[in-house]
Amino acid sequence: MSKTSAPPTTGSGYFRALVFDAYGTLFDVHSVVTTCERLFPGKGEALSQAWRVKQLEYTWLRNSMQRHVDFNDVTQDALRVVCEALALSYTDALLDELIHAYRTLQPFTDARNALATLNAAKNKPKLAILSNGAPDMLNAVVKHNGFDSVLDEVLSVEEVGVGVFKPDPRVYQFAVDRLGIAKNEIGFVSSNGWDAAGAKAFGFNVFWINRRGAPVERLGVTPDYVVKSLDEVVAILR
Ligand code: LAC
Repeated sequence: MSKTSAPPTTGSGYFRALVFDAYGTLFDVHSVVTTCERLFPGKGEALSQAWRVKQLEYTWLRNSMQRHVDFNDVTQDALRVVCEALALSYTDALLDELIHAYRTLQPFTDARNALATLNAAKNKPKLAILSNGAPDMLNAVVKHNGFDSVLDEVLSVEEVGVGVFKPDPRVYQFAVDRLGIAKNEIGFVSSNGWDAAGAKAFGFNVFWINRRGAPVERLGVTPDYVVKSLDEVVAILR
């Protein structure tokens, strides 16, 4: 763990709420690789990696273009384009299998324990998801993994109502408004460096879950904590 600045403490804990990114932070987007490999033998890993990159690119491009569609559409559009880019012939039925896999992603092994531990803590913080995911996608993957029993809120960018994805600051502001908690009393947790930067620029206290030892993004801000797992977040907050 590297601590870049000590967040303010509030009362008996560090934060009154912990807000988690979903895809890539709690849920492993690459757990679709099994389905990808079954459907496209020898191309599963390449497809999974390219799919995630294109999906994120489309959120940033649609923000810039001000041409919003929801994360269902972005995820399906990205899948079609990367299948074509990889010269993988597909049918709608086959793509439906992959999209279903995205609605039943596996959680990272540390996610379940971290949420359960935080949920059982004395003076527990509010636990929420703040995600680009559309409400139906998020509800599917949260319920599939039984996380609805430990989460107080599941917040989708679609509820912000202005047609933007993260890292637009209006998305992070929505979490403040919905939770009714000041931004400096919220810990934001994401494995996506760009999302961690957006949240820090907005004013949250930020934990970047740097699972792959990537360099800190050069976006003018630095996460408060850089850790390798959600276990470390729990240890910091104990
Ligand atoms: C999310 C993706 C972008 O917002 O990580 O959950």
